[in-house]
Amino acid sequence: MAEEQRVILEYADKIDPKKADDYIKVGGYKGLEKARSMDRKALIDEVKKSGLRGRGGAGFNAGMKWSFVPIKDEDRYVVCNFDEGEPGTYKDRIICEKNAQALLEGMAICGAAIASKQGYIYCRGEYPFVVKMLREAIKSAKDSGALGDFDIEVRMGAGAYVCGEETALIESIEGHRGEPRFKPPFPGVAGLWAQPTVVNNVETFACLPYIMTNGADWFAGIGAAKYPGTKVLTLTGDVENATYFEVPTNYMLRDVVYKLGGGVKGGKKFKAVQVGGTSGAFIPEQNLDTQIDFDSMSAIGAALGSGAVFVMDETRDIVDIVTRISKFFEHESCGKCNPCREGTWRCREIMEKINAGKASQKDIDNLMLLSRVMKNAALCGLGQAAPIPIDSTLEHFGYEYSRKIV
Ligand SMILES: Cc1cc2nc3c(=O)[nH]c(=O)nc-3n(C[C@H](O)[C@H](O)[C@H](O)COP(=O)(O)O)c2cc1C
Repeated sequence: MAEEQRVILEYADKIDPKKADDYIKVGGYKGLEKARSMDRKALIDEVKKSGLRGRGGAGFNAGMKWSFVPIKDEDRYVVCNFDEGEPGTYKDRIICEKNAQALLEGMAICGAAIASKQGYIYCRGEYPFVVKMLREAIKSAKDSGALGDFDIEVRMGAGAYVCGEETALIESIEGHRGEPRFKPPFPGVAGLWAQPTVVNNVETFACLPYIMTNGADWFAGIGAAKYPGTKVLTLTGDVENATYFEVPTNYMLRDVVYKLGGGVKGGKKFKAVQVGGTSGAFIPEQNLDTQIDFDSMSAIGAALGSGAVFVMDETRDIVDIVTRISKFFEHESCGKCNPCREGTWRCREIMEKINAGKASQKDIDNLMLLSRVMKNAALCGLGQAAPIPIDSTLEHFGYEYSRKIV
């Protein structure tokens, strides 16, 4: 299988994402029309039936998430997570740059499902040009009447990785320091300004117009049965063809590297691939014959995460790369909880010691213990996932550690 299957990106570079009329000419906003003609429960059931699961990392069923939102007198909000802070990930930027109107339509469909009239897009602070483009796209959609009474505002982050975590993101929109909240309550019950709030990823929202126009069964029939649809991937590192792709979710990881990616750059040998961004596991050659869908990745101890795929050739020093990653997590830890604040600091300290050739087996044992504590005790996914690159490389590339310890 070498072909892409483009759904969200079908009209990439063929329409102007800022112009609602361009999008309407290729069938845009028909899904929203259909959603608005449906009863709210039937709409949520249709999204549930499609099997659409979150594309931001946790893979939660989108329709199910919406069904938890209580409909009372209070306001409800639709929030799009466009923080995209994971190094190596830029798929949400591509979706906005190529098909921003599908994101806006998807948010309005969610608005129809939970009876909300206000949406917010929380955009990564490093993307000011996309913010400008999105504001123009929103104005065009409003002027054309396509969004009806649903309003969307864009808010910018300030460069903190933790603000991609949904409750830290909500704190940040509210104007507070970006730190995760304790859950429960989940945002669906008490989110933005303590009101019921749905937070979904850009790609999750962008799938919705196509589900509504082509039907839940059509979507459920694409790719992997338990994680259906397509996935936008970004391929980086030592491959010939480092760019973005949209593939069905039953696509094989080996084909991502060798067919889409054109293989390892300069004819060198493959060493590892890290899937899901900085917090993803390192996958060795023997696990390349795995589908990229959420569950298949979990089954090999990895995670699809944001869909970033980073390829490393034979010359890469795994311990050095993991040391750099541990510095990233130390820097990005918000400090709210002890296991992450202290744990990421200690991980970085031990990794640097190993990398410098000054560590002993005792340090590796401590690192493994620390990893267990962080995974079980950190407040949010940042601290829980920070040791994953360490664990996976100790498992699959232990010999690289052994070479460096005293
Ligand atoms: C440290 C951290 C960073 C995250 N960054 C992002 C992000 O940049 N974009 C995103 O959509 N989800 C991110 N998430 C996941 C969100 O908390 C949340 O699960 C997601 O926005 C839900 O949307 P979905 O169900 O459509 O995937 C992050 C989680 C953690 C713990």
